[in-house]
Amino acid sequence: MAEFHYRVAILTASDKGSRGERVDESGPLIQQIIENAGYQVGDYLILPDEQEQITDQLRRWSESGKIDLILTTGGTGFSPRDCMPEATLAVADRLVPGIAEAMRAYSMQITPRAMLSRATSVICRSTLIINLPGSPKAVRETLEYLLPSLGHGLDILTSRASECARKD
Ligand code: MTE
Repeated sequence: MAEFHYRVAILTASDKGSRGERVDESGPLIQQIIENAGYQVGDYLILPDEQEQITDQLRRWSESGKIDLILTTGGTGFSPRDCMPEATLAVADRLVPGIAEAMRAYSMQITPRAMLSRATSVICRSTLIINLPGSPKAVRETLEYLLPSLGHGLDILTSRASECARKD
């Protein structure tokens, strides 16, 4: 469990979800998993697959100084409207390729289709932003895999730790 209660914002990208035509299962699932791990969910939104709207929201959360981690779901596939990686890269001050690489490498052991994920991970100001896949199944698989390493990354990002002393 995370020692410090980092504050998380969850963003679901879904045209149908944003119009109330589909129930979002992935956002609430992220909330449940991350709260069980000791994080605090400060905000949760569903937006349509509109790059500018998503970028604006990611920037607003990062600049608020109130959100340490943004977890997104959806919009990382090949559908013509999928734009989550592009919207995320637009706010990147620094790239964090290892998180998306690790997600894909792990997910490839579950399904070769994981190679179709275009997910990215970046830092904007002192907020870590991670694109998770869209389906609840893939959200659970990837988030549970990432969780044990996230706390340490956030400790360094927010200057709560300055060294990489290994605890694992
Ligand atoms: N990762 C895991 N762990 N499990 C999965 O079932 N599905 C993949 C992939 N990543 C999957 C996964 C599939 S089928 C696609 S098309 C891509 O993520 C993009 O997903 P998205 O469009 O739902 O974001």
